[in-house]
Amino acid sequence: MPEGTEWAPPGIDTASPSIARMYDYYLGGKDNYAVDRAAADKLLAVAPEIAEISRRNRAFLGRAVRFLAEQGIRQFVDIGTGLPTQNNVHQVARTHAPDARVAYVDNDPIVLAHARALLADNAETIVAEADLLDPDSVLANPVIRRHIDFDRPVAILLIAILHFFADDDRPYEIVARLRDAIPAGSYLALSHVVSEDHPEAIDAAQDVYRSFLKRSGDARRTRADVLEFFDGFELVDPGLVYVSRWRPDETDDVPEADDAWIVGGVARKI
Ligand SMILES: C[S@@+](CC[C@H](N)C(=O)[O-])C[C@H]1O[C@@H](n2cnc3c(N)ncnc32)[C@H](O)[C@@H]1O
Repeated sequence: MPEGTEWAPPGIDTASPSIARMYDYYLGGKDNYAVDRAAADKLLAVAPEIAEISRRNRAFLGRAVRFLAEQGIRQFVDIGTGLPTQNNVHQVARTHAPDARVAYVDNDPIVLAHARALLADNAETIVAEADLLDPDSVLANPVIRRHIDFDRPVAILLIAILHFFADDDRPYEIVARLRDAIPAGSYLALSHVVSEDHPEAIDAAQDVYRSFLKRSGDARRTRADVLEFFDGFELVDPGLVYVSRWRPDETDDVPEADDAWIVGGVARKI
């Protein structure tokens, strides 16, 4: 291997950055390459708080999954899983509901490889390759359909994924398609970066991600825009809020500085 070249599993492209590997870098993980760190560092230069925001988002995911398990949800479809880290969905869900079934869905080969390695011994959890840009590739995926019964309540998790979709990717239609495929009493948990707080940093983030996602459309959304994803759902308390404010644990101290960047909510299909 030439000097300076990092080893990568077969099929992993280390020539261009990956959303999942950049996020792993923000979270302090080791499954990222020079190309990911270079892209992530461009963003960290204008918004060093991205690392902290990623941790807050991850904590929101954990609290949302725990809440859903407490509501009796036993099926989770986590679309845009990310690389395994701490408090993965199946671990949180099964702590509170040992019979919970989880389908992890992602389109990045590195996520699929790591998730399969981590979950190989767990019959209640599967990993499937599908692209959310084509929601029917998720809904019709045979691996997911064998594992998840879409006639029974299911939680769809779209955590920190839709802000990578430009308006011309039709994200609202995508979410509506998922909503129409699940029964009443199912849930949607979603988090999304909002554009009103740090517009310059958000523009810089758009430029970084657009450079390798090869999408030119606009993915900036305000909180009011994000609310529209919940059409056909009823938000549970406290609604769509900055992720640290979503049902914090009693021991959590939530500083005002956390009121920025990313909102999250959990909603029940009516
Ligand atoms: C920022 S990470 C979020 C990971 C995790 N949901 C969390 O919030 O901790 C976004 C994930 O979405 C995945 N992703 C992006 N576009 C996707 C698509 N079109 N279909 C499926 N997964 C996608 C990426 O590969 C990455 O793993």
